[in-house]
Amino acid sequence: MRFQSQTEPYVQIDSYLEGNALASMAADVREGLSRDFKELSPKYFYDARGSELFELITEQPEYYQTRSERSILNRRAPEIAEITGAEELVELGSGSASKTRALLFAMAGRGALRRYVPVDVSDTVVERCAQELTEQFPDLSVHGLVGDFSRHLIHMPEGEKRLFAFLGGTIGNLYPPERIAFLASIADLMAADDALLLGIDLVKDTRVIEAAYNDAAGVTRDFNRNILHAINLSLGADFQAEYFDHVAFFDREQSRIEMRLRAQRPQTVQIPGAEVTVEFAQGEEVRTEISTKFTAESLGADLDAAGMRLDRFFTDDGGLFGLALARPA
Ligand code: SAH
Ligand code: TRP
Repeated sequence: MRFQSQTEPYVQIDSYLEGNALASMAADVREGLSRDFKELSPKYFYDARGSELFELITEQPEYYQTRSERSILNRRAPEIAEITGAEELVELGSGSASKTRALLFAMAGRGALRRYVPVDVSDTVVERCAQELTEQFPDLSVHGLVGDFSRHLIHMPEGEKRLFAFLGGTIGNLYPPERIAFLASIADLMAADDALLLGIDLVKDTRVIEAAYNDAAGVTRDFNRNILHAINLSLGADFQAEYFDHVAFFDREQSRIEMRLRAQRPQTVQIPGAEVTVEFAQGEEVRTEISTKFTAESLGADLDAAGMRLDRFFTDDGGLFGLALARPA
C-alpha cells in the first residue's frame, strides 16, 4: 500500500515574472537611463547568456570569492546543519546552487533534509537546479520560485526549521537602504528557530578586489556588456555593446566595487520597448552594479538594523570571504 503523504517528494516551480516582466523592465530601464547619472538594475544581467557568463566568472583565477566561499561551506556545512537543526533550505539568488550541495549533503547526512526552495529571477537556473538536485537527492522536494527576491518573497511557501541562504556576496549588490529592507523582509519570514546564512565578500587590498572584477580573459567585461544585449533582445533596443568599455573600480570610502559601462564615443540608442531614445556623450558612464565589501562589524550593524543578530562568523584560511550565520533578534 502506498501512502500519499505530505512527505512524498515533489517538484513544483512557481513563476511570478510572466506578464508584467517586460513592462517592469521597460519602466526600470526608462527610469534608470533618464537620470543625470545613468543606471541599470543588475537583475537584468541574468538572462540565459548572462547566467552562463556568471558561471564562467566564478571559474576565473582572479575571482577568489567562489573558491573561498566553497572552502568555508565544505568545511563548515556539518556544523551549520548541526547548530541550526534545519530541515529545509531556502536559497535566495540560488543560481546554479553548486556550493549549496555541501549544505544539502550535511542536512541529508543528519537524516533531516526535506525540502529545497530555490528563488531566482532566472527561470533557466531554477529549472536546471531542480532537475539536478532531485536526481542527486531522490527524497528531496523542490519548490522553486522564479521571481525577484526584493518583491516576491510574499509568495514563499510556509515552512518550518528553515535555513535561509543568500550566498555569493549577492547581498553586496544591493544599495544600503534596499539591503536593510531586504534583510528585514527575511527577518519577517523567519520563525525564532530559523537561521540565515549570508555569504559576504570582505574588505581587503584594493588590487585583489579590483582584479576580481577585471579578469584577464575579459569574462566580466562580456558579462557587463551582456546587460545591453539583454535590453536589445527584450526591448528591441539597438545598443552596440562593443562601443561601451567595461569599468570596475573599488571605492574605499563607500567600501564597494562600482561597475560601469563607459561610452567610447557619442551615441544615440533607440529603445522601442521602453518608448525612449537615449543619448550618451563620449566618456559618459552607466552604473550597472555595486558590490559592497563588508567586515564582521559592518555586517553586524546591518543585521541589527534589520531585526537580526550575528550568531556565528566563519572565514576561509586567507580571510578573503565571510559566511555569517544570523538569527532573528
Ligand atoms: N548564489 C550563486 C549565484 C550568485 S549570482 C552563487 O553564489 O554563485 C546572483 C544570482 O542572483 C543570480 O543567479 C541571479 O539570477 C540572481 N538574482 C539577481 N538579482 C535578483 C533578484 N532581484 N531577485 C532574484 N534573483 C536575483
Ligand atoms: N555577487 C557577486 C559579486 O558582487 C556578483 C558578481 C560577481 C558580479 N562578478 C561579477 C557582478 C561581475 C557583476 C560583475 O561579486
